[in-house]
Amino acid sequence: MSYITPLFTHASGQPSEPAHFFEQMNLPVPHAGESYRRPVNPGDRHLVFLNDFGLVIRITANDLVMNQSHPHFLKPLFTRQGEKYRIDIDPGIDCTATRAETKKIYAYLGRTYGIQVDDERPDNVGFIPDGTRRYPVLIDLDPRYTRICPDSAAVERLSASARLAATLLKWRKPAAAFDPDHQEKFYKPLLDLAADMWPAHRNNADPAKIAQFFSACAAFKQRQNLLSIWTDEANNYNYTTWVARAYAMRLEKHAGPAQTPINAP
Ligand SMILES: Nc1ncnc2c1ncn2[C@@H]1O[C@H](COP(=O)(O)OP(=O)(O)OP(=O)(O)O)[C@@H](O)[C@H]1O
Ligand SMILES: [Mg+2]
Repeated sequence: MSYITPLFTHASGQPSEPAHFFEQMNLPVPHAGESYRRPVNPGDRHLVFLNDFGLVIRITANDLVMNQSHPHFLKPLFTRQGEKYRIDIDPGIDCTATRAETKKIYAYLGRTYGIQVDDERPDNVGFIPDGTRRYPVLIDLDPRYTRICPDSAAVERLSASARLAATLLKWRKPAAAFDPDHQEKFYKPLLDLAADMWPAHRNNADPAKIAQFFSACAAFKQRQNLLSIWTDEANNYNYTTWVARAYAMRLEKHAGPAQTPINAP
């Protein structure tokens, strides 16, 4: 497929899939300079940062979508599968792993699960912000650079290697830290709200449920369970801070979910 298709244009009166998504979410459709495009192959992935909600909207060309069922892959709170793109709403997590932590995380994921990553960089991992900084997840999932190659030895070594990694990482409660359902449990109130805000078979979302979801996200953000770490200049990876700021300025003027009173569960 072509990666130069303008993502957010309304061709012949019809919004593109990503533009339709933003409209249904009651968010302004991003302008140029308000979304993050990867420097290599721009166009195959876009990120839009929602600072006040601690959310990232991730738009991925369908042929680059990767199965995210692994417990240490970041899972979206909501996904919309379109003809050309998959659009996810990802939780904003703690992407401040040091180089030393990053090394240990990739070593653990490789040894325990056979996960192989070509670009083992600190900016592609993060921690679920549960207050422990002990549950690592990969955020930059791309089938060209990430694969799972479990072999029987790796599977046999699983529990011993998980213990070893926990010791290496000085994680004091490995049992809790490596709960495979950790993400589902941690984000459960948001996942429950997201589940029926826009059923897959319907073209239009339910505006009241969308507003409820965003209110709950804002409340999670206030409790620091959703983060917008990219707003901090120290984490300005490839201009993420700048594009996030540009979009936030327009979002402020938009009568969208930001205007919704917070009455989260
Ligand atoms: N869910 C998230 N929570 C916090 N920060 C995020 C999240 N998703 C993305 N980011 C920030 O945006 C940056 C870019 O994200 P990501 O690595 O997924 O994009 P990319 O398209 O692969 O870009 P590149 O090829 O430049 O690495 C991350 O390094 C991180 O700083
Ligand atoms: Mg990356």
